Amino acid sequence: MGLAPERRVLLIIGGGIAAYKSLLLIRLCARAGIATRAVLTKAGAEFVTPLSVAALTGDKVYTDLFSLTDEAEMGHIQLSRAAGLVVVAPATADLMAKAANGHANDLASTVLLATDKPVMWAPAMNVRMWMHKAVQRNVETLLEDGAMMIGPEDGDMACGEFGPGRMAEPETIFAAIEAFFKAGEGHRLPAPEATRCLSDRPLAGRRMLVTAGPTLEAIDPVRFLSNRSSGKQGYAIAAALAELGAEVVLVSGPTALPDPKDVRTLRVESARDMLAACEQSLPVDAAFCVAAVADWRPARATGRKIKKEKDSPPPALALVENPDILASLSRPGKNRPRLVVGFAAETNDIEAHARAKIARKGCDWILANDVSGDVMGGEDNEILLIRSEGTEHWPRMPKAEAAARLAAAVAAHLGEESGRGIEGNRGRTSRA
Ligand SMILES: Cc1cc2nc3c(=O)[nH]c(=O)nc-3n(C[C@H](O)[C@H](O)[C@H](O)COP(=O)(O)O)c2cc1C
Repeated sequence: MGLAPERRVLLIIGGGIAAYKSLLLIRLCARAGIATRAVLTKAGAEFVTPLSVAALTGDKVYTDLFSLTDEAEMGHIQLSRAAGLVVVAPATADLMAKAANGHANDLASTVLLATDKPVMWAPAMNVRMWMHKAVQRNVETLLEDGAMMIGPEDGDMACGEFGPGRMAEPETIFAAIEAFFKAGEGHRLPAPEATRCLSDRPLAGRRMLVTAGPTLEAIDPVRFLSNRSSGKQGYAIAAALAELGAEVVLVSGPTALPDPKDVRTLRVESARDMLAACEQSLPVDAAFCVAAVADWRPARATGRKIKKEKDSPPPALALVENPDILASLSRPGKNRPRLVVGFAAETNDIEAHARAKIARKGCDWILANDVSGDVMGGEDNEILLIRSEGTEHWPRMPKAEAAARLAAAVAAHLGEESGRGIEGNRGRTSRA
């Protein structure tokens, strides 16, 4: 049976829970006059029956590479060429791995290797599978080979986790198919709209906690102790992490800054409030203690304004120590973030003091800066990044640039850890 390739889709249905959505996709295509012929993988047939697929496509469903009848009626080469577009939905990790590496050990992978038509992939899998370095590598390879990627989308998953990996909705895939056919053969969807390359959002699926700004410690209802922190560096870090796809909670002391875009901002006043908000935000993959938390607070904050009495000496201000948020978050335990980053504001012997701080607090990295100049409240920062593997000097640069640099270093670090295996995902978070 000869098929004209215009407005014909060869739909490869892989073995994932999202296979049921492909049935809706077939219906949407049919309504728009786009004929669909389906290849159902062996695993795909565990999720949707060949009978349902055949009923919706109004055609035979192809499942077996070595079916003599199929080879006589329509060989795998012809099957791979008879449509104008090949759509893989759900695209399993397994199918992408096979296609990226040129395997051809079943009908779906053989068709994908033999086709001379554009291929559109709609990946669907658990967030950790999607984030795995091996899957990311395969996605990159397929994109380099000219594939189109639709999704995946962020959201709650059938497995109970949250993050990127959910298959794009049938309507979204259908819109991409329509756009493809409308634009004519040979057209590729423009990358920024249709293709979300994982390397653009390497922190997708990660949760991050950032503290920023000063804390304010009440003396009485109108007076307080505080410091000159503007919050600019912490806000820039929160924004840079969100830009790379992370879900970010920013716990901020009083600042004049607007909430950063795509960041959940919790406003607090005192160090004790800040600690409580941080603890409520756990678990996270990484925590960044950028806030200039007041070391001390008045031992007693009076509920009434302290009056200035004529001829009496100024009141003595007794201070007590505030909780140490960086040390608290760094303490070993099931909720300890995999990466805890502290800031050290120093005025002399910066590296020595910062290294001592790592040892004292138990954090993993320290960003140290010299605050004897105009760093506090200023627009620029000059940083020493101190890690166990060595110290990096970042020359003076805008705080936003330093934040982007830090976010990239964190993405690389967490990516490397994940690549070392699932054990490396200690503290990796998922919302129930
Ligand atoms: C209940 C269940 C759900 C699954 N969901 C997915 C999924 O959403 N994405 C995926 O890549 N693999 C998923 N798998 C694993 C695939 O079915 C498995 O890798 C299979 O070999 C894929 O075969 P295929 O790529 O030929 O369809 C799931 C397995 C089971 C048992």
